[in-house]
Amino acid sequence: MLRLSLAMAITAATSMAADPPGSITFHRDVLPILAKDCQGCHRPGQIAPMPFLTYETTRPWAQQIKVVVSSKKMPPAVSNPHFPVLTGRDGLTQAEIDILVKWVDSGAPEGTPPADERGSKKK
Ligand code: HEC
Repeated sequence: MLRLSLAMAITAATSMAADPPGSITFHRDVLPILAKDCQGCHRPGQIAPMPFLTYETTRPWAQQIKVVVSSKKMPPAVSNPHFPVLTGRDGLTQAEIDILVKWVDSGAPEGTPPADERGSKKK
């Protein structure tokens, strides 16, 4: 029991060292928002020209992402049969927009990928 909580404490300390508290990182903060509101279109084979599935493909677009979410150009405010992915959605909340903007303003850091993705830098 003691051994287990010690191991957990060490794990927590290690991940905190990589992602300082208060920082906004791609894997922890940004990716869940992209998954919910952007990846329906921003994935291979969908209508958006560039995929936002990984840090590598999203990072070059960081400045543009800031522009389009602050101006509410993205996600497109549509709800029709051609965009079933968005039907019934209200787009981003102000809190989510703030997270994306702060992420870009702080240099769009990657942060620590989840353990199962570490070491497997795929396409
Ligand atoms: C309904 C589909 C759809 C969703 C959802 C969507 N996008 Fe897009 N996005 C597009 C399409 C199509 C384009 C390319 C055409 C254009 O630039 O208008 C695009 C272009 C962009 C661009 C490039 C704009 C430019 O000026 O070059 C950015 C950045 C972007 N999207 C970010 C996002 C983000 C961030 C989200 C989620 C918050 C998102 N998009 C959600 C369809 C979508």
